[in-house]
Amino acid sequence: MSNAVVLGLQWGDEGKGKVIDLLSGSVDVVVRCQGGANAGHTVVVDGKKTILHLLPSGALHEGARCVIGNGVVVDPLALQSELADLDEAGVNLRPRLSVSDRAHLVLPYHKALDAAREAARGAGKVGTTLRGIGPTYQHKMARTGLRCGQVCDSESFRVALSKQVDAANQELAALGADTLALDTVLSEAMPACEAMAPMVCDTAAIVHEAVAADKRLMFEGAQGVLLDIDFGTYPYVTSSNTGIGGVITGSGASHKDVGEVIGIVKAYTTRVGEGPFVTELDEVAGKELRDRGGEYGATTGRPRRCGWLDLVITSFACRLNGVDTIALTKLDVLSSGDDIDICVAYELDGARIDAPPASVEDLARAKPVYEKLQGWSEDITGCRNFEDLPVAAQEYVQYIEQQTGVKVGYIGVGPDREQTICR
Ligand code: GDP
Ligand code: IMO
Ligand code: MG
Repeated sequence: MSNAVVLGLQWGDEGKGKVIDLLSGSVDVVVRCQGGANAGHTVVVDGKKTILHLLPSGALHEGARCVIGNGVVVDPLALQSELADLDEAGVNLRPRLSVSDRAHLVLPYHKALDAAREAARGAGKVGTTLRGIGPTYQHKMARTGLRCGQVCDSESFRVALSKQVDAANQELAALGADTLALDTVLSEAMPACEAMAPMVCDTAAIVHEAVAADKRLMFEGAQGVLLDIDFGTYPYVTSSNTGIGGVITGSGASHKDVGEVIGIVKAYTTRVGEGPFVTELDEVAGKELRDRGGEYGATTGRPRRCGWLDLVITSFACRLNGVDTIALTKLDVLSSGDDIDICVAYELDGARIDAPPASVEDLARAKPVYEKLQGWSEDITGCRNFEDLPVAAQEYVQYIEQQTGVKVGYIGVGPDREQTICR
């Protein structure tokens, strides 16, 4: 097996954590490339659940070096609490974790700004995870951000941090939100930054050395392509490039070295937060699917909005990212016996379209064009071969392959690492 990239092809929560954990058993280095603690990647091994936010999902494999790349926004407080959670589970990740010196820091004022801006947007809110992601990427692009490499010199970092708190307080006050006391920010953030300092280094060099030594790398995407800042449902998106572009700029890997692109697709669609969702089910049917799939956010606990599989967005995501293989997750959740709708196109103002329009207002007006496929009622959670699946389930998978033009190489039939069909 070569290097691989794992990307979500919908609005996040496709099951990336499970697939990365499954495939990273024989991987030398697992690299997070963008996003931050807004992610919630679930790994279930022998029934035991671990949710990773900032840490790469290869963490549970002792042989895997874990890298938080330069494109990630790193909250040192979240990092410490996640490392402590892993300690409790008997995993000390610190000796095999590296954090990029170029990665930007998410500090308490970013989280305060995220909350204050969301409150100010009122009904027009994005529905962010309130993890400070947008304000941190904003400061990065405005060239005023603080980077992980700066924590290694605590005195000058303290001075730089003080200036940023002053600037953030001006905006917080203008938004009518509580301002932050500098002493509190310093006393909260400094110990977490100092604890992180020994892990901070040039992670692009780790990637390059691993490539030169013919080691296997896995690049872990966060969020999903429809949350991408450029190609997602703007402005209801996150603030990073969640596709293949973000993998390259966020890790320092060359495009020649990223390997197979594996796109994760949930067998239906979910979304957390605001924004248009063409195949969203009504309240009753949506709740039924949510309950069957356990669709509650791994980071915020928010109920996820649920709907049928939308092949317009997943095919668009495949095209944008050169997806080689699809991993289809949660097929077991569809085993209700009912027929299954699958969206193959949109209708917008009387015309049939096969890609999402750029305008979110247009997308909100688009109507799904469905094909109806036969359902199945058998419990498939014990299936380990494609041929073991009921014929209707096999046909559902083949239909997705035919419509997207991409092979479905993995099929999830339950949350556990073992509950996977590899074809
Ligand atoms: P991620 O953000 O893409 O890593 O996905 P999340 O962890 O946020 O959400 C996926 C949820 O689905 C988690 O609770 C997983 O344990 C669960 N899951 C993943 N694959 C499967 C599957 O094939 N079947 C079932 N039933 N659950 C799955
Ligand atoms: P994983 O990696 C699902 C959504 C938020 C909100 C929008 C912007 O677990 O798939 P942000 O806090 O990033 O500014 O929020 O993006 N969002 C996610 N939705 N899964 C995620 O990550 C998400 N990360 C952000 O709900 O709509
Ligand atoms: Mg998630």
